[in-house]
Amino acid sequence: MCGIVGYIGEKEALPILINGLKALEYRGYDSAGVAVFSKNGIREKKTVGQVEVLEKAVGDDVDFKGNLGIAHTRWATHGAPSEANAHPHSDCSRRVFLVHNGIIENYKELKNYLSERGHIFKSETDTESVAHLIEDFLEEGKDFKTALIDTLKMIRGAYALAIADAKNPEILYAAKLSSPLVIGVGKDENFLASDPSAVIGNTRDFIYLKDGELAEITRDKINISNLEKQPTPIEIVRLEWNLEQAQKGDFPHFMLKEIFEGPEIVRFAFRGRIISKENRVMLGGLEQVSDKIKKIKRLIILACGTSYYAGLVGEYLFEEIAKLPTEVHFASEFRYREEPFDEGTAVLAISQSGETADTLAALRKAKEKGLLTLGIVNTVGSTIARETNAGVYNHAGPEIGVASTKAFLSQITILVLMAIYLSKSNDKDSLTESLLKELEKIPEKIEKILLQAPAIEKLALKYKDCGNFLFIGRRYNYPTALEGALKLKEVSYIHAEGYGAGEMKHGPLAMISPDFPTMAIVPQNGVSEKIYSNLEEIKARKGPILAIATEGDKKISSLANDVIYIPKTIEPLEPLLTVVPLQLFAYYAGVNRGFNVDKPRNLAKSVTVE
Ligand code: F6R
Repeated sequence: MCGIVGYIGEKEALPILINGLKALEYRGYDSAGVAVFSKNGIREKKTVGQVEVLEKAVGDDVDFKGNLGIAHTRWATHGAPSEANAHPHSDCSRRVFLVHNGIIENYKELKNYLSERGHIFKSETDTESVAHLIEDFLEEGKDFKTALIDTLKMIRGAYALAIADAKNPEILYAAKLSSPLVIGVGKDENFLASDPSAVIGNTRDFIYLKDGELAEITRDKINISNLEKQPTPIEIVRLEWNLEQAQKGDFPHFMLKEIFEGPEIVRFAFRGRIISKENRVMLGGLEQVSDKIKKIKRLIILACGTSYYAGLVGEYLFEEIAKLPTEVHFASEFRYREEPFDEGTAVLAISQSGETADTLAALRKAKEKGLLTLGIVNTVGSTIARETNAGVYNHAGPEIGVASTKAFLSQITILVLMAIYLSKSNDKDSLTESLLKELEKIPEKIEKILLQAPAIEKLALKYKDCGNFLFIGRRYNYPTALEGALKLKEVSYIHAEGYGAGEMKHGPLAMISPDFPTMAIVPQNGVSEKIYSNLEEIKARKGPILAIATEGDKKISSLANDVIYIPKTIEPLEPLLTVVPLQLFAYYAGVNRGFNVDKPRNLAKSVTVE
């Protein structure tokens, strides 16, 4: 999705803005633009393609100077990627300049209305109508802030806006509704960004702007009010991440770096939350609603993509450990269902970014119905984190690779903890004890799997030219099969399908042939014998088999062409191990097919439109 950066302070705005845009590249974009303002005038540049193109285009312009600036990476929604459609957009008099993330739903009406009033539009975007509408109110004699507020009251849809008044380059305006925007607080300088990673090298103090708020930012002051001009409370959050965490280090790609962060991510997720002596779990974020949690009779998990697959693992965990009837819904589908909710129904939203529009909309629907809303969110202060009644943070640090890897591990770790926390069973002790003891050993076991990265790369090279792949698993590893297929699709563009292994005979077996391989997730557990039978059927049809199996499994080598061995663990924790070789396999397949695995085509990290 689009990325926004803004700056006001004593320094030259341009380098800060360009660095900020580069840090936001992970959000996905097709064009970029920047404008800086000073008493001497405006300098503006827009280019199609990478931020580097923009950087080069402004690099030689010695007059590109100013201490106030706004910049943007665009991911086209209305109008093709082009210089004219890139942001910033401005009004006819070139006084109002703005960058926008989101969608102005009533832009056509506004455009018609404004065109009739003589405004000439230069782009096909929804955004430009906002600049002209502000201008229209200014022409009525209103001051800039009032014109802006009147505009915000008239637009419908979602927006994060950074706005500059070229007549007054001493103030930067920001407004937000349903799209993320943060203010970075510095000394004699302040920043604006779609997310903190854009400016984390400059400050660690952030204000998360809330829906319906308008900020007036000068170099040494920040005023925030609602659209009735009443001041709203300002809360500054100090973020523990540093610049390094948001960068690649020695790894060639963020995706690989993030896969290798797996062991510590699992540790971060359980650290301080396991009270070993008392054989219990403490989740501070849920304490405030602990009474309500005791009354939960049915849990609905809402999420999208990889977070949804983590939710499917959660379904098994909540049912087995907490004995709690649980169902998982794609957030995008849940929104349109009209099912009745009994008293005692709670929802759990799972989201890495905390900004996914579909998950947010589903959550809001649940809130409207009066349900208790819980969250598992990685991004501190994000909209989903703020809008749930209570929740647990992942503490996984920024995930930059578009394909989610480390977030999946931390989501499952927290789901295990949450299932124990929600457990009402009296005989929970032995299961809880073994889960908690084993969870603490998982990071080391992941490390052992990561040591096999070179061998997994060889397998990826062997299979990288197959046009199709099937992923199969059962019970806890059925969601892992779905996630493995999604990962391969996303970063290598190989067509892949995930299936419950027991479903083979009901359709997918028809596809099996010598050039249609199957990735079988078959750790030794209560259902492995069943999967062996499924594999016999595949083998009989000459389908190549790659297996993820437990160390010491004697049988698997007679069935599979290739095997990746993983350490033994207890079944509910298996996805934490089995997904790691699948992530590596997808990564190496993508890289060796020549693709940019950190930024797969057509995808964006933070899906803030529906
Ligand atoms: C897949 C992936 C996506 C996200 C999905 C939800 O690798 O990253 O499927 O999992 O868009 O995003 P969050 O978790 O931010 O709500």
